[in-house]
Amino acid sequence: MTKNSSFTRIVLNWYEKHKRELPWRETFDPYAIWLSEVILQQTRIDQGMAYYLRFIDSYPTIYDFAAASEDEILKMWQGLGYYSRARNMHSTAKTIVREHQGQFPADYTSLLRLKGVGEYTASAIASIAFNLPHATVDGNVFRVLARVYGIDTPIDTGIGKKEFTKLANELIDRSQPGQFNQALMEFGAIQCSPKKPDCENCPLNNLCIAWKNGTTDALPVKRGKTKIRKRYFNYLVIEHGSYTYLNKRTGNDIWKNLYEFPVTETTEKNDLASTLKEHQSFLATGTEIQIKKETDWQKQVLSHQHIFYRFIYLKLAGKVNIPSSLIRVNKKDIFNFAVPKPIEKELEQNNWF
Ligand code: ADE
Repeated sequence: MTKNSSFTRIVLNWYEKHKRELPWRETFDPYAIWLSEVILQQTRIDQGMAYYLRFIDSYPTIYDFAAASEDEILKMWQGLGYYSRARNMHSTAKTIVREHQGQFPADYTSLLRLKGVGEYTASAIASIAFNLPHATVDGNVFRVLARVYGIDTPIDTGIGKKEFTKLANELIDRSQPGQFNQALMEFGAIQCSPKKPDCENCPLNNLCIAWKNGTTDALPVKRGKTKIRKRYFNYLVIEHGSYTYLNKRTGNDIWKNLYEFPVTETTEKNDLASTLKEHQSFLATGTEIQIKKETDWQKQVLSHQHIFYRFIYLKLAGKVNIPSSLIRVNKKDIFNFAVPKPIEKELEQNNWF
C-alpha cells in the first residue's frame, strides 16, 4: 500500500469514529451545502451552526433565499463580517432561480462561474452534493498535508496553492470525494490542530514527516510572516580508541543525506548535563566518560532558520552501547564524508583528527 492510499484510508477511518454530527452532513442538497460552506469560511463550526440554522429555517430553499430582500439577508448575516459574501450569495441565488430553474449547476466549472463561488466553494459543492472528485483545500487541509508530507512551500503563494491542491486531488477517494474532503478538513480541525496537536495518539504519526523531524510547529509555512526558526544543535564528538561515530541525516530536513556527529536538537540553549542525558542511550553504565572540551555556541544562518550549534568532545572507554543507526568511522577517515557547514568549519579549525 502506498503512502497516499494509506493516508486516504486512515483519514476516512478516523472520520467514521470522530466526525461531528452536523445538519449539513445529513443532506446532499447543494443549496444547504453552499450555505453552510460559505458561512464556515467566515467562522468556526460552533458559531456557524447557529447562523446556518437561522438561514435554513427562514429560507428552506433557494427560492426563499432569492425572494428575500437584501436587507433581510444582511441582517441575518450580521456578525459574520465580510458582507460582500452575503450580497454575492443573494445575487447568486437570484441567478440560479432565474437562469438555472432553481438548480445548482452540477459541474465544477459552471459552479465556479457563480458570483462569490471560488475554488474552495465550487469544490465543496461539486464533491459533497454531486460526488465529483474536486479537493477542498482550506486552512485545515494545508496544515495536515504540510505536516504529513513535510512540505515547506509557503501556502500563501500561487506555487504553494498549486502544489497542495495537486496533492489533495491525488489523495481524494474518487468513490466518496465529499466524504473524503470533509474527513480531511475535520481531521485538521480536531486531530491535527494548529496548536498542541495530539501527535502521540495520531493515526497518521507513522506516515508524518513533521512528527518524525520535530517540525510540526513550524508547518505550514507562510511567506507573509516567515518566522526565522531558531534551532539548537549539540554535537557529540566522540573519541573511542581510534574511532569516532557519525550519523547520516535522513528525512525532509536540512542537510539530508549528509553526515554529522551524533546530535541532539533543542529549542533553546541547554547545558552540558542535559545534553549528556539525552545521549544516555549509548553512554552505558560502566562507560568511562571524559569530557575533553565544550566549544562556545556558534551560529549558521540559513534562509528560514538560524542554527545555533556547539561541539562537546568526549573520550570514551570501557563498554559503550553504540546505537545501530550510527556509523563507526576511523578518525582519520572523517574527511571522506560529506558534512554540513558547521562540522566542516569545526574540522578545519581543529587538529583533533
Ligand atoms: N470546514 C468547512 N467545511 C467543512 C466541512 N464540510 N467539514 C469539515 N470541516 C469543514
